[in-house]
Amino acid sequence: MCGIVGYVGKRDVVDVIFKGLTNLEYRGYDSAGMALQDCGELRIYKTLGKLINLKNELEERKSELKHPTSGIGHIRWATHGSPSLVNAHPHTCSCGRLVVVHNGIIENYKELREQLIKKGCNFRSQTDTETIAHLVADEYAKAKDLETAVRNSIKQLQGAYAICVMHKDVPNLIVGARKHAPMLVGIGEDENFIASDTPAIIEYTKKTIYLEDNEIAVVTKDSVKITDINGNTVNKKIEMLPWEPVALSKLGYKHFMLKEINEQPDVIRNVLNGKLYDIDAPVNLSEVKIDKETLKKLNKIQIIACGTSLHAAIVGKYLIEDFAGISVEVEASSEYIYRKTTTDSSTLVIGVSQSGETADTITAIKQAKEKNSHILIITNRPDSNMARLADSLIPVNAGIEVSVAATKSYSAQLISFYLLAIHLAEIKDSMDKEYLKNIKHELIQLPTKIEEILSNTSSIQECARKFSSYKNFIYIARGVNLASAYEGALKLKEISYINATGYPAGELKHGPIAMLDETMPVLAILIPGGITYEKVLSNSEEAKARNAKLIALTSSTDKAIDTLFDNVIRIPHVSEVLSPAITCVPLQLLAYYIAEFLGKDVDQPRNLAKSVTVE
Ligand code: F6R
Repeated sequence: MCGIVGYVGKRDVVDVIFKGLTNLEYRGYDSAGMALQDCGELRIYKTLGKLINLKNELEERKSELKHPTSGIGHIRWATHGSPSLVNAHPHTCSCGRLVVVHNGIIENYKELREQLIKKGCNFRSQTDTETIAHLVADEYAKAKDLETAVRNSIKQLQGAYAICVMHKDVPNLIVGARKHAPMLVGIGEDENFIASDTPAIIEYTKKTIYLEDNEIAVVTKDSVKITDINGNTVNKKIEMLPWEPVALSKLGYKHFMLKEINEQPDVIRNVLNGKLYDIDAPVNLSEVKIDKETLKKLNKIQIIACGTSLHAAIVGKYLIEDFAGISVEVEASSEYIYRKTTTDSSTLVIGVSQSGETADTITAIKQAKEKNSHILIITNRPDSNMARLADSLIPVNAGIEVSVAATKSYSAQLISFYLLAIHLAEIKDSMDKEYLKNIKHELIQLPTKIEEILSNTSSIQECARKFSSYKNFIYIARGVNLASAYEGALKLKEISYINATGYPAGELKHGPIAMLDETMPVLAILIPGGITYEKVLSNSEEAKARNAKLIALTSSTDKAIDTLFDNVIRIPHVSEVLSPAITCVPLQLLAYYIAEFLGKDVDQPRNLAKSVTVE
């Protein structure tokens, strides 16, 4: 939520900050702003809405700029105060000499604001961030040193923050600080960077320092100093970023989402690489740092996650219980943190997160860590805060995901759960070996089958065209594909804003069937050969009898399906237990094409942000 970029150096400052913000736009797009140190002047630009508006504003006012040599920029996902020009960052102190950009929420901002108003500060916005600007200015007046002023200020802040501060008196120096919100420093030659996330700097440098909570970075063109809250110097490790800049290009696709959907076969190959190559050999999951004897005795697992990652967790529960016979609880992180959980040192707690920055999941993991549970993190960002909390870390290697709607990271999480469930079953010797061999064989075949779907999307496009005008959908399934119904419906609602609900097919007749008529299509997931096929077919008949339009997502070649259903999306056959890894792809495509036909902003749906760093 919210993206920050700071830059001091030799390049075109506006260009570096603008490109950095562009690569962070997944974090929010309610408003954008930039403050520049320009030959003794502090210039501020703000616009409402997407970054393109800031670009146009900067273009129009280009002649004002002489030679900016440093600056800070921000894109906002509104928390306190509506998206408006006055609430857009950067925020300034009363005299306008100090500027701040901020990601996070200051919980005690009201008290601080009252105290600062009493001291004569002139507040203009409804944001919590403006409090930081006045507070640091107040401390600066006493300390006459920006780093000290920031340190003394953050001691008074409660909540979450990543901030960058500049002062007109000290050009070409940026002070950054963080607590419970991500921030990193990029190290260059004759230039340095501060940012919320790596995509902002990857084009310029791979050398990075990750700030920890309560650390302060003082960044100039040729120096980076990191200190702790008491002013002690901290010697930080410089890490090399694993990404390539090309990951941030659409490579000819109309949207990042479509590109990322199409990357899934390779993503799956990547996840399997080195872990599963021979069906006769055990899965190699050396990332799980629990000794075999403890794993054998393990009788409880809790999985915590949000959104799409939560859906992957539901599949994970099904697989681990089925293959390894270990009882698994799955819970939304935002619920887990507000009750007494039964976690203990004999429980394995798994956190699942694409970004590794989701605030609710981080809090939940910390809560479990306090109870001495072993923490296993499954994430696409091994460089994230969540990954740093892990006792065991499974990086899913999906590559950077830019589109706000998660697609390839979901597939990568699913495959990680297949590997984990097989690994546990092999250690516990809880599953028939031939059965596991077949599953492994199917896993290796999976990318090719998904390529088959991706090579001909005409039936999905036709279905999208036919159904794009409907206002409500129900997606039904049973068993392991219930999570696919949830995930397919989530994809549809988040990018097309159509009301879609994933529901257990057997529960339809316990209430939701009352809503069914010709205006409410029902999409049913039917995988033949498994234990749920006939039942979902009957539930579809029941919906048909209430005049609902029916869509089948199936690998069945049965002609009866074509008679019963209005539209059929056919997929290559895989066994039921493996099918979530394949059914997710046409469901992602269906949501994509519907949103496309409706002219929605597919990659940046309204009100959302990719990295949810507030609880
Ligand atoms: C949906 C989506 C969100 C995220 C959720 C958790 O497409 O992207 O529902 O899945 O915000 O995010 P992570 O996985 O980063 O913890």
